[in-house]
Amino acid sequence: MRILVTGARGQVGQQIVRRGAATGLEVVGMSSTELDITVESSVHSALTEVRPNVVINCAAYTAVDKAELDFQRAADVNGRGARNIATACHTTEAHLIHVSTDYVFGGDASEPYEIDAPKNPKTVYGRTKLDGEGAVRAVAPSAQIVRTAWVFTGTGSDFVATMHRLESERQFIDVVDDQVGSPTYAADLADGLLRLASTAQSRTVTTLHAANSGTATWYQLARAVFEEIGADPDRIRPCTTEEFPRPAPRPRYSVLSDRAWRAAGLEPLRPWRDALHAALADHSPQA
Ligand SMILES: NC(=O)c1ccc[n+]([C@@H]2O[C@H](COP(=O)([O-])OP(=O)(O)OC[C@H]3O[C@@H](n4cnc5c(N)ncnc54)[C@H](OP(=O)(O)O)[C@@H]3O)[C@@H](O)[C@H]2O)c1
Repeated sequence: MRILVTGARGQVGQQIVRRGAATGLEVVGMSSTELDITVESSVHSALTEVRPNVVINCAAYTAVDKAELDFQRAADVNGRGARNIATACHTTEAHLIHVSTDYVFGGDASEPYEIDAPKNPKTVYGRTKLDGEGAVRAVAPSAQIVRTAWVFTGTGSDFVATMHRLESERQFIDVVDDQVGSPTYAADLADGLLRLASTAQSRTVTTLHAANSGTATWYQLARAVFEEIGADPDRIRPCTTEEFPRPAPRPRYSVLSDRAWRAAGLEPLRPWRDALHAALADHSPQA
């Protein structure tokens, strides 16, 4: 099986390429410079040349705040780009796994979102990702749409890496304690997506949710990072969303039900706390 990964320089794309190669799968990663998904002819050429059995579309405009002022670009990548990928997959008979987001929901639920819960995106990012889902569904009905949430790697400028860095820079850190989600290690998500790609029986389930299991607030996640690195978690102080206004409103509740994932015959992703431990071990100076 040959798998083509778009957005291969991103958090999730990078991990799929890395983990796929480690498990002996033939995975071809294309970054935004190698394949711009907004250019229909480039997408068609890439699929015609690579001839993948499966495409995992990780390419996306993910700058949630910036998108509020940059609707056109977000729509081009998340909507039109997704349509281009779906069209080329349909034409070349490649199976499409399209990665989407919890931001398609309103973020005001109090129990885990099922796949068919009403959509009510509150941000440009969420609206354009929902448009992308619609385009994929319209063009490639058998494609699998996989929504995830709160992705971290523990590197770069993601939340986990930022808490790790701030530990040596600040005595106290105020972190939002009224937003709930399921922190998801990109490596675990990548493994899950590769399993999905390799499990033909799963394909009857066309919309799924994949996130590490369990829930946390950002405050609880920050405390867990401190515990993992041997720092005093009481240096993390809870605060409210109102104290940290952002251009794009953040969902208060982003927990995704894994019912469809399990119905597809896939193992749920491990608890986020175990995943965090693994991420910090994977990226410790000794690792
Ligand atoms: N991160 C999260 O917490 C999160 C949560 C829920 C869902 N998701 C979804 O998960 C998927 C992967 O996200 P991620 O976390 O890996 O985001 P990411 O790190 O921002 O990666 C996205 C990648 O897409 C690439 N890209 C942007 N425009 C493109 C274009 N026109 N053509 C081709 N590639 C393009 C970017 O290229 P450059 O490297 O050149 O910028 C980047 O490498 C996305 O669908 C996202 O919506 C993410």
